[in-house]
Amino acid sequence: MQGCAYIDEQYVAPEDAKISIFDWGFLHSDATYDVAHVWQGRFFRLDDHLNRFEASCRALRLDPGVSRQRMREVMHECVRRAGLADAYVELLCTRGRPAPGSRDPRTCTNRFMAFAIPFVWIADPARQRRGIDLVVGTPQRIPPSSVDPRVKNYHWLDFVTGLFEAYERGAETVLLTDGAGAVTEGPGFNVFAVFGGRTVVTPERGVLEGISRRTVIELAQAAGLEMQVRRLPVEELRRADEVFLSSTGGGVIPIATLDGLAVGGRARGQFGPVSERLQAAYWALHADPRHTEPVRMAAA
Ligand SMILES: Cc1ncc(COP(=O)(O)O)c(C=O)c1O
Repeated sequence: MQGCAYIDEQYVAPEDAKISIFDWGFLHSDATYDVAHVWQGRFFRLDDHLNRFEASCRALRLDPGVSRQRMREVMHECVRRAGLADAYVELLCTRGRPAPGSRDPRTCTNRFMAFAIPFVWIADPARQRRGIDLVVGTPQRIPPSSVDPRVKNYHWLDFVTGLFEAYERGAETVLLTDGAGAVTEGPGFNVFAVFGGRTVVTPERGVLEGISRRTVIELAQAAGLEMQVRRLPVEELRRADEVFLSSTGGGVIPIATLDGLAVGGRARGQFGPVSERLQAAYWALHADPRHTEPVRMAAA
């Protein structure tokens, strides 16, 4: 596998990046992470990803034990060593292992790791052109009162159960609800609905505040669209003229069908004007120095 990982203060090949099975990151999903991306040699909104990662660590009382400047250096260096122009760059902090015989998380030594691998798509451009088939899944997204979804986490059993349900129903991915009739998010993405070609709605609660979601919100506002961040009932989503996902793994991704019905009554491969406009604007930002920085090509 092409890529480079950073673990135990060393840069290693991806297959050599290994953690103990006794690390609570593995045993209890006791970890946080963040994923930034590099597109055509430039990091996109790296500071926003670092801010979110640091906030997630604080919220979980995890101490990665490295400065922000060091995290940034490690991310650049992983991409440089991997020789990737388009990359998926992850930072992780796990709880680590407790003192022998202890179950007290305060005795754990937290661990910081990172890696860069080739860009990972939720749906690659060919699939995006075809349009994604989405279903509203049966499992409820883990509620914010249990796990704060604004802290990027590995509590994914609800998503994975939902993904298998989606495959059985002939779809590609799944959207989970809050158990009270409103939409939340899916495995690796936020969701948006468009009404009347000018009102854009995305769920407010029970979701990760995606960096791509924030980008879409800003782009929609700059385009003079009416942006609403609020509760989005599933029944309202079904009446939307356009539905799209937002994710680091592919930007603005239009949905072709929702629970087997064509979104907005469109033919497959035809998408609404708002989705297309925001998708183009999202990728155009990747050359904008206000949101990007070039990967450092000098060895750290
Ligand atoms: C649960 C969840 N929601 C939303 C997102 C989208 O966040 P971002 O735009 O920062 O990639 C992700 C990304 O992995 C995610 O895991």
